[in-house]
Amino acid sequence: MTLPLVADRRTGGRKLKRIVFDRDTIAHRVVELGQDITTAYPDGELVVLGLLKGSFIFLSDLVRCIDRPLQVDFLVAASYGSDTVSSGNVRLLYDPETVLKGKHILLVEDIVDTGRTLNRLVKLLRERQPLSLEICALLDKHIAEHLELEPAFLGFDCPNEFIVGYGLDHAENFRHLPYIASLT
Ligand code: PRP
Repeated sequence: MTLPLVADRRTGGRKLKRIVFDRDTIAHRVVELGQDITTAYPDGELVVLGLLKGSFIFLSDLVRCIDRPLQVDFLVAASYGSDTVSSGNVRLLYDPETVLKGKHILLVEDIVDTGRTLNRLVKLLRERQPLSLEICALLDKHIAEHLELEPAFLGFDCPNEFIVGYGLDHAENFRHLPYIASLT
């Protein structure tokens, strides 16, 4: 029998299988990503768009590591259970107020799993005629069969496990864990 390895008061008694990326490892990588993004955008207006809810911690840490002017806005997309929903049919529960046309758009996502979320949003955002559109993802499981746009900036390759913490949830719990852990 394998015993659970991680106990944390914040989980309310639920044991975590293991910590995948600890607090320091995440912080170090986010600084590197911020430097990469700063270098990649020498000119133009930059809008950093966080996809809620999962990206809220990553986004807030990341923008403080980007050393240039930028604006922050958010997207809230309706999630569909079916994978037969076409990419053009994504519905936004919150649409960014910031004008996107003619600006560099950096879409910030916590995790690329099947890639469905990103594929829908990339098509929608391209219709807004940004000057450029790129993705910054904290984690990528690399199991998506087709991505409309590969993340230009990626924090970590992610094991194909159920991941929580640092914004990621299970049934809305565990988002506040300061590290990334595996539940399964
Ligand atoms: C999760 C996660 C990503 C998406 C990735 O969001 O935050 O946005 O799923 O999955 P995919 O690549 O298979 O589309 P969720 O819909 O759970 O909402 P949340 O961000 O509010 O947790």
